[in-house]
Amino acid sequence: METVLSSNLANSGRIDANKTNFAKDVPKIARYTLADSTDNNIGMDYHIQIVTKDDKLRILKFLRRFFFRDEPLNHSIQLIPESEDSTCIELEEYCSMSTLENNLSLMAVSTSGAIVGVLLNGKMDPPCDEEPEYITTCENPKFKKILRLLRYVDKNVNRDGQYQGLDILEIRIISVDTNWRGKGIGKALVEKAIEIGKEKDFHMVRADCSSSFSGKLCARLGFERIYELKYADYVDEDGDPIFCPAFPHTSIITYIKKL
Ligand SMILES: CC(C)(COP(=O)(O)OP(=O)(O)OC[C@H]1O[C@@H](n2cnc3c(N)ncnc32)[C@H](O)[C@@H]1OP(=O)(O)O)[C@@H](O)C(=O)NCCC(=O)NCCS
Repeated sequence: METVLSSNLANSGRIDANKTNFAKDVPKIARYTLADSTDNNIGMDYHIQIVTKDDKLRILKFLRRFFFRDEPLNHSIQLIPESEDSTCIELEEYCSMSTLENNLSLMAVSTSGAIVGVLLNGKMDPPCDEEPEYITTCENPKFKKILRLLRYVDKNVNRDGQYQGLDILEIRIISVDTNWRGKGIGKALVEKAIEIGKEKDFHMVRADCSSSFSGKLCARLGFERIYELKYADYVDEDGDPIFCPAFPHTSIITYIKKL
């Protein structure tokens, strides 16, 4: 946490496991966005707190607005078609799956009470040979493609069995409000997750980064890059890439940090 505070944030309060207060004074950076935008005149202070099950609806509303549309894989296959005000129930279930009641997930909340960032974490399931039921039975063909890619990555990461038996804190979803990006919120959320991982005796934190921005963030925080799959090399039976996310998102990269 100190890194963030010393770089561009000024600490305004106590840090504890349930609530971390920050105040900061950084210029607003206009960066491109694929999602819709929120109020442009909002203040720029936020704190980080643990997600509870009571936050479920707010979290899902936030993720529908941002992550469901602009995460590079979701965007590349138009998981939510641009013209539609719809959702992906299967992704909602994936987001909720043992992440909202485990005291491991975090959200950044502005002083006005709006969620401006979300980090959904969970204890990683041990690798298994069979495809998990939630993938096999997934009824949304687009989302199923994403689940299969994540499973492909996981199988490769665990090929040599070196992570067998370890307690791994998995970063599953990271999303920041488009108006608040580039200000270190993503980094602050991951730093807090590392702190929690240490407190709860996890052996390591892992993130499969489908976005080059989340990858950059992990690299900056000292994560080790252990596996990379270029989207161009993940092809269907005709040899065509299954995902073609917009540049600079050219690979999905697995990062781990030993705790
Ligand atoms: C990935 C994401 C959570 C990063 O959140 P953030 O609060 O902007 O992250 P940070 O401010 O801590 O910045 C992380 C790094 O990415 C860079 N970055 C973030 N957004 C960027 C953008 N649009 N263009 C260029 N660089 C960007 C930052 O500059 C920083 O790199 P640096 O340390 O070298 O400067 C955010 O971009 C997001 O919500 N993306 C859409 C959802 C997504 O792709 N999630 C990740 C799936 S694995």
